[in-house]
Amino acid sequence: MVSATSTTEATATAVRLVDVHKTYTGREPVHALRGVSLELRAGSVTAVVGQSGSGKSTLLNCAAGLDTPSQGSVIVSGHDLTSLRPDDLTRFRREHIGFVFQAYNLIGHLTARENLRLPLLLSGRAPDLVWEASLLDQLGVGALADRLPGELSGGQAQRFAIARALITRPAVVFADEPTGALDSRTGAGVLAALRETASALGQTVVIVTHDATVAAAADRVLVLADGLKVDEIDAPTPEQVTARLLARR
Ligand SMILES: Nc1ncnc2c1ncn2[C@@H]1O[C@H](COP(=O)(O)OP(=O)(O)OP(=O)(O)O)[C@@H](O)[C@H]1O
Ligand SMILES: [Mg+2]
Repeated sequence: MVSATSTTEATATAVRLVDVHKTYTGREPVHALRGVSLELRAGSVTAVVGQSGSGKSTLLNCAAGLDTPSQGSVIVSGHDLTSLRPDDLTRFRREHIGFVFQAYNLIGHLTARENLRLPLLLSGRAPDLVWEASLLDQLGVGALADRLPGELSGGQAQRFAIARALITRPAVVFADEPTGALDSRTGAGVLAALRETASALGQTVVIVTHDATVAAAADRVLVLADGLKVDEIDAPTPEQVTARLLARR
């Protein structure tokens, strides 16, 4: 069974990481995260920045329950993911967490609409047609829903991937470089759509980005270096983000 650690915490803090370590074991162990603690307020937008290999994707995957920390705990909406059994974790993730990948990950032989309904299908829920239409409308892709992913532009495909992440109305949405494969103007439009939709739903959003302008649109920026959180900037400006990133090189 899934049990809440505290109701107050669940409402005020959406995501909490306590001393999260992740070591990939292989021929040579890689310490991708070396003790990260953080607390994200419900309804906030956080950007995660840092050099390639600093541990951004690992952090996101651990926070979203897609990967398991080697040590430490991850608490989402008051539930400790690290203490859930695999089945319960999968169920919890489907219901409470949305994830947007850089490479969209739409299934090629399903239409855009079938793709976005997939999370509902997997959790045995019927589509809410009114909600689906309003989501597609907000993302500006309502007219394209019967196309196959291969018939969409990158920006359009990513809007469907966002719709798919939001269709279950998850409390927290993680996006790992969601605009990395798009030109900057298309990327900005996609991000604005994500922000607007998430803010209308009061969702907590965490975005990994390499773009200082994108990061500066967040409420807070977390800077990672070598598997550690080395800086936190509240109400950032693009100049501050760039300066702190350069300071870490
Ligand atoms: N599955 C894996 N097995 C072994 N090492 C891994 C694995 N995934 C990531 N790593 C290593 O962990 C470290 C952190 O990787 P991660 O993907 O989190 O970085 P990142 O900040 O997302 O980088 P990028 O900006 O290039 O996406 C890197 O040294 C990487 O090589
Ligand atoms: Mg990455």
